[in-house]
Amino acid sequence: MKHTDIYEIMTSPAVIGTHVTVCGWVRTSRDSKNMAFLELNDGTTLKHLQIVIDKSAFDDISEYMKLGSSLKVEGEAVKSVVAADSVEINAEKITVLGTCPPEYPLQKKRHTLEYLRTIPALRVRTNTFNAVFRVRSVVSAAIHEYFTERRFTYVHTPLITASDCEGAGEMFRVTTLGFAPEIKTLEEYDAADFFGRRAALSVSGQLDGEVAAMAFGKIYTFGPSFRAEKSNTQRHVAEFWHVEPEVAFAELPDIMVLAEGLIKHIISSVLEKCPDEMRFFDAHFEKGLIEKLTSVKNHDFAVMSYTEAIEKLEKSGREFKFPVYWGCDLATEHERYISEEVCKKPVFLTDYPKEIKSFYMKQNADGKTVAATDLLVPGVGEIIGGSEREADLDKLLEAMKSRNMNLDEYTDYISLRKFGSVPHSGFGLGLERIIMYVTGVSNIRDVILYPRTFGNIY
Ligand code: 4AD
Ligand code: MG
Repeated sequence: MKHTDIYEIMTSPAVIGTHVTVCGWVRTSRDSKNMAFLELNDGTTLKHLQIVIDKSAFDDISEYMKLGSSLKVEGEAVKSVVAADSVEINAEKITVLGTCPPEYPLQKKRHTLEYLRTIPALRVRTNTFNAVFRVRSVVSAAIHEYFTERRFTYVHTPLITASDCEGAGEMFRVTTLGFAPEIKTLEEYDAADFFGRRAALSVSGQLDGEVAAMAFGKIYTFGPSFRAEKSNTQRHVAEFWHVEPEVAFAELPDIMVLAEGLIKHIISSVLEKCPDEMRFFDAHFEKGLIEKLTSVKNHDFAVMSYTEAIEKLEKSGREFKFPVYWGCDLATEHERYISEEVCKKPVFLTDYPKEIKSFYMKQNADGKTVAATDLLVPGVGEIIGGSEREADLDKLLEAMKSRNMNLDEYTDYISLRKFGSVPHSGFGLGLERIIMYVTGVSNIRDVILYPRTFGNIY
């Protein structure tokens, strides 16, 4: 269908005075005595294009006025009468592409995010989702740019797996078997199933990423991960997008540098490529957002050991919901206290107790901690989890056995430590979490097309 994007109309001065065709959905409409005004949006920009209708030139304009209907408009692009830097269209011909009845739910200008969650197919037509999804797209492109510029190989790791990367038992089973009374045990069930053994959706591409890094040196994965966590929080979904670089010949500080550079590159990209969207978030979601991100991009992140963070929490005089002691897993309230009130900026916490972290992390010389890091940011909490990996075969096996893991599920992974093992490190960044951070949108359900959460698959 021959037409010009509204983004193009709004940004190229050369269109003024020319005859154009635009398409879009009616966002607002206003009728007066001789004239009528529509605002059209086609999704290519946050801005709406004003269509000016001289009523004497049209028989019946009633179908054009209905919010949500889709139109094709032909006319002359002229300088806006009210806003000199803007463009509007003097309509000459209007074609209704799709009518829209009055029960269309987006009649009001502002709806709550909670209400919008109940109409996921339509909420994407609001300004908020237009802005969120453009930022999401720009962030995704920035991630690819960052790694490809550094000669990382983009690797696609399998989503169906036979091993549990995080060892937390939060996996969705993959099975083709339904209820079968003749199957008596779990072993029989697994053996009869599609793969002849138990399979699940992967919680992380890391283990396969390590295989690839041991051949290609520097790799990253970027795809969905799945977690069957039965928690309903503002920052957990059962299906999220996961960015996981894995780097051979790298120790923990090396990937902290890599992670900080990635976050700063993402911030620079959205500030540069999404100015309208960022102004929108600054005005409606987080006052001072642009200034905050500009400052984050221009300053070093903080670094603090887990042990020091525990001391700070203990000395805070705060009543936390979850008790604080050396060895405790940090809850969001603790993470936010450290990043928001102690550091007031993103902070890498390092060297966590080995008991609360995964089997694959490099064991530190103190015998108590592992070379792990989480990046905590104000407003969200953890957005990155990473570590140096245990490259020593015996230490890895010991860590796996102490967790009662079934070594047969990890033969490939273990073999990496036999055949030219090297120090290597990596991390995982949750795409939705970084989107929350750069937009100020505080619920993860509002930065993903269809959020999958416990008890809810809309
Ligand atoms: O800290 P996590 O569990 O680390 C890993 O999965 C490692 N294998 C990563 C690696 O070293 N390659 O998860 C990494 C990040 C978290 O910091 C968070 O941003 C995101 O993934 N994440 C989730 N995002 C949304 N919903 C969930 N349920 C998430 N679980 C993890
Ligand atoms: Mg984590």
